[in-house]
Amino acid sequence: MAIIIDGKKISDEIKSEIKQRTEKLFSEKSIKPGLAVLLVGNDPASSIYVNSKAKACQSLGFDSIVKRLPEDTPESEVINIVNQWNADPSVHGILVQLPLPKHINETKVLLSIQPNKDVDGFHPENVGRLVIGLPGFVSCTPAGIFELLKRSNIETSGKHAVIVGRSNIVGKPIANILYQKKAFANAIVTICHTATKDLSYYTKQADILVAAVGKPEIIRGEDVKEGVVVIDVGINRVDDPSTEKGYRIVGDVHFDSVSKKASAITPVPGGVGPMTIAMLMYNTLLSAEGVVY
Ligand code: GUN
Repeated sequence: MAIIIDGKKISDEIKSEIKQRTEKLFSEKSIKPGLAVLLVGNDPASSIYVNSKAKACQSLGFDSIVKRLPEDTPESEVINIVNQWNADPSVHGILVQLPLPKHINETKVLLSIQPNKDVDGFHPENVGRLVIGLPGFVSCTPAGIFELLKRSNIETSGKHAVIVGRSNIVGKPIANILYQKKAFANAIVTICHTATKDLSYYTKQADILVAAVGKPEIIRGEDVKEGVVVIDVGINRVDDPSTEKGYRIVGDVHFDSVSKKASAITPVPGGVGPMTIAMLMYNTLLSAEGVVY
């Protein structure tokens, strides 16, 4: 039976380390980490995410600004606000919640964030830094996956990591983390995507399998080998009339069948999910400490 990688517990450990470092930074240098978050429009999921980011700031002793703007806000106004925050020394991290409304060019907005405040790690400068192994901000979900592997003592060097999904937010950056020539990485990486014809041909070869496709339970027991380490990034809502809400949340991995063969596995919920905010807070702390750039 697989070891369950407890993302809640590990994220709590990280948050408690952040809290200690935050207190030290304040007592030694009178600096409080500050995160500024911009939400444009009324997407309910985004609103929930933004609230939990603000709550995390409060619980760790960070300053936070949350700016909510209407759906029809012009692109130029969004960029003006980012520029104000770029120039504000009390703001160490800037996050523009995605997706943005259709009339706003997402790339243009992300490019307007100063790379040394880009705690989401989405700016092409930070993505490039990751690729060539320079210090920079690493986007939060892949950084969280790396921490889960590291803190669970999972050997990655020389192992075959198969990533399912090539998104800019998860698939590409986790691939780039895992093949770096450094401790807790150094893996051989395969990325599968929509043009992969026989997915299970690849997933069966994985020593470490990262599923980040956003399709409920597509990886099943017969698709993996004995002893695989499974990181499930999926958060999918499926109808379930037997529950009070009428739905339940499942990952991209069919937990019951895969956990019978895996040596370790992240559950959904409670695996990768809680790590994302913890790493956002960690990036903001690093920015305030001035240790990245
Ligand atoms: N939307 C969904 N996830 C994220 C995230 O990690 N950062 C931002 N900025 N937007 C998101």
